[in-house]
Amino acid sequence: MKKDLISNDIQLDSSGKLIHLLGLKGLSKNHLTHILDVADSLIDNQGNLKKSKALDDMSVANLFFEPSTRTRNTFEIAAMRSSANVINVDLANSALKKNEDLLDTMRTLQAMQIDMFVIRHKQSALPHYVAENIDNVSILNAGDGINAHPTQALLDMLTIRQHKKSFENLSVAIVGDIVHSRVAHSNIQALKTLGTTDVRLVAPAGLQYNDDSCSLRRVDDIEMGIKNCDVVIALRLQKERMLEADIPNEQEYFDNYGLTPERLALAKPDAIVMHPGPINRGVEIDSSVADSNQSAILQQVTNGIAVRMAIMEILAGKS
Ligand code: NCD
Repeated sequence: MKKDLISNDIQLDSSGKLIHLLGLKGLSKNHLTHILDVADSLIDNQGNLKKSKALDDMSVANLFFEPSTRTRNTFEIAAMRSSANVINVDLANSALKKNEDLLDTMRTLQAMQIDMFVIRHKQSALPHYVAENIDNVSILNAGDGINAHPTQALLDMLTIRQHKKSFENLSVAIVGDIVHSRVAHSNIQALKTLGTTDVRLVAPAGLQYNDDSCSLRRVDDIEMGIKNCDVVIALRLQKERMLEADIPNEQEYFDNYGLTPERLALAKPDAIVMHPGPINRGVEIDSSVADSNQSAILQQVTNGIAVRMAIMEILAGKS
């Protein structure tokens, strides 16, 4: 599949200013670096998150049509730490259940003077559709189908930047269910924009990245893929996006692709392990790796707040 079919053009105004965050494709290195710098400025020297008044006249609505723990709650905390009003729309009990059209629901919320909509949906490009049809609001993509998860990739880049000197000389292995992972797709884009050329995509054939225009190294051998790398990003088997018959046997998958201490030992000694969560212990990652001092998994969660504050403040024209 060609990811290029979904364009993010409408996320920039004619002067190149960000007005929505739909995906990372189309954003420059300067855009990404600016977002990371603003996120950094929201973290103090002790690693604690700061508070800001930047959004004190604004309202943010979270619309999560798919399950979420990290993304939804960190968006909520981020909005509150930036002094916005925030609502989590109760979609299960909303008028959508009475067959209200999604755009009518959005227009109704807009009439309540909501300024930003954070949307997660199983359908790729749904946030783009809303952005095209509703004026005077900012749309933030919190994960659309298998397409993109831009704030996750940004928080992943912030985490890498906190551990490694530059993106240019890094070797990054992305391991697991790449084909169904919007996180992997956005991370591939972010690393490319930031100048990382050694990105290895490690997956069995059925879960490998299938964008023909991408020239990154595809490897089906995890030992070979991880060797000497600086960053290992493990991914969950996203069974909800697979046909029953294609779901791998978990034990077999762990035997062939699980991130174990022995396999991690093949990476550089100071390699970090990342995972967007939720982790499935004993499936894609061994417990001892997830809990080791090489794991940055919980640091990623905290960074999610700083990155989401940063992006909302930038969209509001406050940073
Ligand atoms: C990911 C997602 O929803 O795409 N999770 C997240 O946002 N942290 C990855 C996953 O569900 O496996």
